[in-house]
Amino acid sequence: MSRFWSAVVHDLTPYVPGEQPKLANLVKLNTNENPYGPSPRVLDALRAEAAETLRLYPDPGSGRLRAGIAAYHGVAADRVFVGNGSDEVLAHAFMALLKHGQPVLFPDITYSFYPVYCRLYGIEHRTIPLTDTFEIRIDDYLTPNGGVIFPNPNAPTGRLLALGEIERLLAGNPDSVVVIDEAYIDFGGDSAVCLVARYPQLLVTRTLSKSHALAGLRVGYAIGQPHLIEALDRVKDSFNSYPLDRFAQAGALASIEDHAYFESLCARVVASRGRLVAALAGLDFEVLPSAANFIFTGHPSHDGAKLAAALRERSIIVRHFRQPDRISRFLRITIGTDAQCDTLLDALKAIVAC
Ligand SMILES: Cc1ncc(COP(=O)(O)O)c(C=O)c1O
Repeated sequence: MSRFWSAVVHDLTPYVPGEQPKLANLVKLNTNENPYGPSPRVLDALRAEAAETLRLYPDPGSGRLRAGIAAYHGVAADRVFVGNGSDEVLAHAFMALLKHGQPVLFPDITYSFYPVYCRLYGIEHRTIPLTDTFEIRIDDYLTPNGGVIFPNPNAPTGRLLALGEIERLLAGNPDSVVVIDEAYIDFGGDSAVCLVARYPQLLVTRTLSKSHALAGLRVGYAIGQPHLIEALDRVKDSFNSYPLDRFAQAGALASIEDHAYFESLCARVVASRGRLVAALAGLDFEVLPSAANFIFTGHPSHDGAKLAAALRERSIIVRHFRQPDRISRFLRITIGTDAQCDTLLDALKAIVAC
């Protein structure tokens, strides 16, 4: 605390990202990174970018990357916005599209950055409880609001909402923006991008951090009709005109264009997820159905915090959330390589046997 802080800073409760430990030889399953490296074409593109041209500012509009993302999704380039990770895209969406007179709605158990943005920008919000089975019930959102946002699949539960339900939300909520955060959609769900043409209030956000194995490059994007994209551009250009450096633009484009590598990455993670879920069921763990690159799981007779601590003693890091109380028995575990999953399973087997 300091008397030099602005009132806004005094009131902030910053987001706490998952730990990035400096120790080697950890089995790191706590921040939903991809266990595999990015496409070799990304590395080639980055090497090519390490040149004398670094003295020049990058393209402020990330034109080639936007065009590449647009081509991948089969939309026009004026429907694409790119940012420094989807966190930045989301931050701009809160400021540009969700700050109205009424509260923004999101689930009580969801990505914990949303309330942080609300606080930063002075946006009222109301949380809507997930059902007893940790599902989003669309009827609960069909009420006056200043906007709706949730991830699909949701985080940290991993539960997927069918596209038909998202369409029902859009049809029943025509007057405020609906942001569908698709950080994990590539691991098992249908994207809402196909609904953008029909719904002027829909913004879909995505990231290259998970399914493209590029968390370190910091690239995210949004797809929506041009009036929504213009709002995001207006905020971006009032904040930082060059959010994506030359490396990020070139590397992200190479990744988007390497479809075969991307598909093989997703398939490997999905196969490991199936294997891990089956093995955990054999150890009496409850595992919520996951369409993401992580699972949300708990054991009926073992406390979540104690399980996380016991795993840490064995150099395995997973994520445990103390709040809200009804998820404190769960662990969120990122899908690692099969070898990492086996190390995890051996450790859990020993821990639950005690
Ligand atoms: C639901 C959700 N949305 C967005 C993000 C942000 O991703 P990034 O800023 O790496 O693109 C995350 C990161 O974990 C997430 O879990």
